[in-house]
Amino acid sequence: MKELFGKLADGTKIYRWSLENGGTRLKVLSYGGIVQSLEIPDSRGQYANVSLGFANIEDYVASSPYFGALIGRYGNRIDQGRFTLDGKAYQVDVNDGENSLHGGAEGFDKRVWDIEPFTEGSDVGLYLHHTSVDGEMGYPGTLQTKVTYTLTQQGDWRIDYEATTDKTTVVNLTNHVYWNLAGESSGSIHDHELTVAASRYTPVGKGLIPTGELAPVAGTPFDFRVTKTVGGDLRGAHQQLLHAQGIDHNLVLDKGVTAEPEHIATLSDPSSGRTLSVSTTEPGVQFYSGNFLDGTLVGTGGTVYRQGDALCLETQHFPDSPNQPEFPSTTLRPGQTYRSATVHSFGR
Ligand code: BGC
Repeated sequence: MKELFGKLADGTKIYRWSLENGGTRLKVLSYGGIVQSLEIPDSRGQYANVSLGFANIEDYVASSPYFGALIGRYGNRIDQGRFTLDGKAYQVDVNDGENSLHGGAEGFDKRVWDIEPFTEGSDVGLYLHHTSVDGEMGYPGTLQTKVTYTLTQQGDWRIDYEATTDKTTVVNLTNHVYWNLAGESSGSIHDHELTVAASRYTPVGKGLIPTGELAPVAGTPFDFRVTKTVGGDLRGAHQQLLHAQGIDHNLVLDKGVTAEPEHIATLSDPSSGRTLSVSTTEPGVQFYSGNFLDGTLVGTGGTVYRQGDALCLETQHFPDSPNQPEFPSTTLRPGQTYRSATVHSFGR
């Protein structure tokens, strides 16, 4: 089902698509491919919207910290927005202090996507297309991007990303859902429990740019190999937490890059019994503990969002990979197809 959600300042109509399968209800905007609402039942069958967002298009345009959005062309940061490819230097849009974040000021989260619904066997879903022109936000090459959102019969939400280019470029696509399994207006996620199969992480310096080191998580707040609460170590006086006002770090997944999505993380909320299990083809996940939610935004349900009211698990290649030859490569060349997939499975 498709309905008018609102209009941009130039009159462009923004539509909201609603899908339902296997007990999961998803609402997606043509603006930014944004997941505006994701409802799942709890152990008593009570539904809640577990993804932070806004009730109107104006708030998404004016002040969204990427709520539910598709992120591109480059998820997370590039040092000073600069990199060199095949000997040629590029400067992409700088929008986060002196660095580039999530594709620049007008990234994929701010583009209007062409959306087509589909039904395939027991799956339902949406195909989302965006052609990013050569030079958009400073990135080389025309990037043809296709993202598929699928809801399976089991209620899993799967995302498949595909992109091709006509010039050598860099690509790192992700989605920026802010999860709160107790419901988007229910307060802190510090009692949620998290497990992540990552023995190392990428420490950062000023401006949250990785130092290049792959450091062990053992003995740090970044160790989620054994299930622990999200809030448990957040107030530990670890230097890395001070850089980010909490956790805002790329965890290096033990499985590395895989052809098929493999299980990497489980999040659960003891109060509602809802669980989220994440599988991905990607080598990293940015675990962001909602540090910069500061009580200045009113969410979908009419409550104010404060620090720690949600967390993000952004499956991705590592931040600043174009400047880090030791990190798995984010280079895409003409003739190649970029592919990435992430599956979110829900339980109760
Ligand atoms: C980044 C944060 C940023 C947030 C949204 C995350 O992916 O790592 O530093 O504040 O996105 O604004």
